[in-house]
Amino acid sequence: MDKIVALAKRRGFIYPGSEIYGGIAGFWDYGPLGVELANNIKRAWWKAMVYDREDIVGLDASIIMNPKVWEASGHVASFTDPLTECKVCHQRFRADQSDEIASHESMHNAKGDRGVAWTEPRQFNLLFRTFVGPVEDATSLAYLRGETCQGIYVNFPNIVSSMRVKIPFGIAQIGKAFRNEVTPGKYLFRVREFEQMELEFFVHPREADRQFAYWKDERMRWHRSLGLRESHLRFRQHESTERAHYAADSWDIEYDYPEWGWKELEGIANRTDYDLKTHGKWSGRDLSYTNQETKETFIPYVIEPSVGVSRLFLALLVDAYAEEEKRIVLRLHPTLSPVKVAVFPLVSNKPDIVEKARAVYTLLKKRFVTAWDDRGNIGKRYLAQDEIGTPWCVTVDYDTLETDTVTVRDRDTTKQERVGVSHLLSYIEKKLSG
Ligand code: GAP
Repeated sequence: MDKIVALAKRRGFIYPGSEIYGGIAGFWDYGPLGVELANNIKRAWWKAMVYDREDIVGLDASIIMNPKVWEASGHVASFTDPLTECKVCHQRFRADQSDEIASHESMHNAKGDRGVAWTEPRQFNLLFRTFVGPVEDATSLAYLRGETCQGIYVNFPNIVSSMRVKIPFGIAQIGKAFRNEVTPGKYLFRVREFEQMELEFFVHPREADRQFAYWKDERMRWHRSLGLRESHLRFRQHESTERAHYAADSWDIEYDYPEWGWKELEGIANRTDYDLKTHGKWSGRDLSYTNQETKETFIPYVIEPSVGVSRLFLALLVDAYAEEEKRIVLRLHPTLSPVKVAVFPLVSNKPDIVEKARAVYTLLKKRFVTAWDDRGNIGKRYLAQDEIGTPWCVTVDYDTLETDTVTVRDRDTTKQERVGVSHLLSYIEKKLSG
């Protein structure tokens, strides 16, 4: 994990938030390559959820909502974690994170500290508070959303009336969520500001179990399609004691992170009719749905797959990272790679080669995220691209001037092929879609 954190910083994927001021716990910045990878992840999710289907529409609701939303949802009263304090060093922890508690105790025990004990846990609310408007009092109190899906529930009647959707259908959303986590940490795994990709799929109550099983499979299939190794993914059903108050059934897709082991990557919950019912009650609006053919009126059940971008980002980096004898390579799925192709002039002191390479670069850059590198020897340039997961490197050499062909070197096999410049776009396009 340390190597991945170092690589991510060195190569412009992830920087500590506000680093020059000493950082701020639980906040990270996505550098030039990180923002590309994150955007590619979000694009892949949106494609699978919205563009490839007929029964899901998109939404982008605002982050700050009427505070009644959070009272109705139960977050103001019970979006809490049990907080406990170490009596030796006064560091605070989540009482339900037994691995972190145990490792903290062993640290003190190893140092020979006496009196290792914990305060009685108290509930700590995770919602960040803010004020809307110039007056800071109870009337202007608002919250940064703790989950994105509440914006979907409150827009359910708008979508039904404006989009001619029929149950079963889903609303997909990608957006920021904020949680004042007691112990942010584990790098990107538990942060205080993150993006969620959430689908709320509205179904007839009698279809809920079948749809739940379908979405479980579908989501696992999607993670595998991104290239995550099967042996690093598994399902885990929540015990009834750990299930959220709204859920009839909940499963996690877990990823086997190095050092930390199996941890939640994505949650899939059968939220029943809890959210629409509660918002209906609190808002006084009718959030039921009427089937226009059968005239049956009911409150739909919701099946919710929800995954955090940063957790998936980290899993993908970890899964792709490989140390080989002579190189470090990120074997990212090409559709996720931040840079798709890099162009090198074989030498930088021959103007006709550089000029031709610039023309190839300009051609590719119109279609793909393309890098240019004319420094150092070709071998080092390949290694630099391998380390950030660039699937193809194109070299313009002396033969190019004669034959209008270039070499294309494949990241995974390191094999090189000669390709005509006139076929280069379709060659890369074909490889990408394959
Ligand atoms: N709407 C349901 C919901 O928010 P959750 O299990 O609390 O459920 C869903 O969160 C997903 O959001 C998690 O599976 C995880 O991927 C991500 N997530 C939650 N808290 C996070 C945090 N503090 N940092 C990074 N990702 C987080």
